Amino acid sequence: MPVNKVVLGVTGSIAAYKAAEVCSLLRKAGVEVRVAMTACGARFVTPLTFETLTQHPVYADVFGQPKSYEMDHIAWAKWADVFAVAPATANILAKMAHGLADDPVSTFYLSFDGPTIVAPAMNTRMLEHPATEANLNLLRSRGVAVVAPAEGLLACGDVGRGKLADPAAIVAAVLGAQSQGAGQPVASPPAASVASAATVTTLRPPDKSLAGRTVLITSGPTHEYLDPVRFLTNPSSGRMGAALTMEAQRRGAKVHLVSGPVSPQMLPTGEGVTVHRVTTAEQMLRAVRDLAPTVDVFVFAAAVSDFRVATPPTHKIKRTGNSLTLPLIENPDIAQAIGCIKERGQITVGFAAETEDLERNALAKLERKRLDLIVANNVSNPRIGFDRDVNEVTIYRRDGSRRHISERPKSDVAFEVFEAVLGLLGPLQPASPATA
Ligand SMILES: Cc1cc2nc3c(=O)[nH]c(=O)nc-3n(C[C@H](O)[C@H](O)[C@H](O)COP(=O)(O)O)c2cc1C
Repeated sequence: MPVNKVVLGVTGSIAAYKAAEVCSLLRKAGVEVRVAMTACGARFVTPLTFETLTQHPVYADVFGQPKSYEMDHIAWAKWADVFAVAPATANILAKMAHGLADDPVSTFYLSFDGPTIVAPAMNTRMLEHPATEANLNLLRSRGVAVVAPAEGLLACGDVGRGKLADPAAIVAAVLGAQSQGAGQPVASPPAASVASAATVTTLRPPDKSLAGRTVLITSGPTHEYLDPVRFLTNPSSGRMGAALTMEAQRRGAKVHLVSGPVSPQMLPTGEGVTVHRVTTAEQMLRAVRDLAPTVDVFVFAAAVSDFRVATPPTHKIKRTGNSLTLPLIENPDIAQAIGCIKERGQITVGFAAETEDLERNALAKLERKRLDLIVANNVSNPRIGFDRDVNEVTIYRRDGSRRHISERPKSDVAFEVFEAVLGLLGPLQPASPATA
């Protein structure tokens, strides 16, 4: 169903001025817009701006004179197809999560039962505060879609996550919301003229689909030392591994995350998750081998360096005025090593980051490493993969079937990976009786 009528909530963020752009893009897409503002929002951009853009009075005061017999928040709730809050402050997210209704935006949220989208904008510390994270998770679990904020230079001068998403991406999410229904990820926005909505994430409520199973995930890059102060590595951030870990945890699995050097934010914690930090490919292999006997599902998402220096010098290599040749040897292939020793019932999932011949290379790896599934992506596309929040992958199975997942948040890719794994898992073995 096309989205024709949108209520846009504007709150007190420095990014409030970008709401005018969101409003204007929606109008250009033929959408009728009405704007609800908090008092703080109205201190950043005046209601007059939105009244001019929408050709309609702004709902800026819960006790304002209604424009008709019905109260604004009730009348508008019956009218709107979609409700979008952009920018959404930490404060409004908290109010929406906990059902407060003391301003036009939060009052409208409680009155409306249709698809709702929030586009947070705030300083990184506010965004990453456990209170804000918990509020966002609560909203997601209720089906509110979150247009993930971007990374970049923030108005306060800090660099980090928290920048309001691109107005075009917000508009794409709004236009796609109705066809997906509230709480569903927006896969393909109908309007070709606006940016992808791939950054819209959905948190699914916990389930028990992997309860009683142990999942091992390798994640991040490895560092292969050339000398004591230099190493070979790659741009892997550990985001995909973190998303897989959280997804396995959500499904009730016991999770071992074997991670190369990544930022602490990429190391999920919480019930059921044990993190094993390693640096080199050899250390990663050792950790995986040690844990292997207890593992039901291995997901090899780490970007392990294929090569290392055979014997790195113990002193820093100095300039000599000449070129330098360092002979490299191959690192162990962790997925292949486990593929060779895996026992009946153990599932192995590999990742193939390719720059050419994606399908041929992925299928060859599936065979060579005795994998059950391979998740292939084209890393030459700068919009996806390494150090990005989104990915576009194809999951290949041994039986020749495949599933393509168009550009989506890594959390959604992780969901699809475990959906595919579930189809391969045998029945849960009863726990062996405790020995005296
Ligand atoms: C200059 C300035 C910029 C601000 N930017 C933000 C912001 O980007 N995000 C945020 O959550 N709060 C921001 N705040 C704080 C909010 O305005 C404050 O928490 C306010 O109570 C939010 O009210 P509202 O949610 O009702 O609009 C900012 C405050 C000031 C003074």
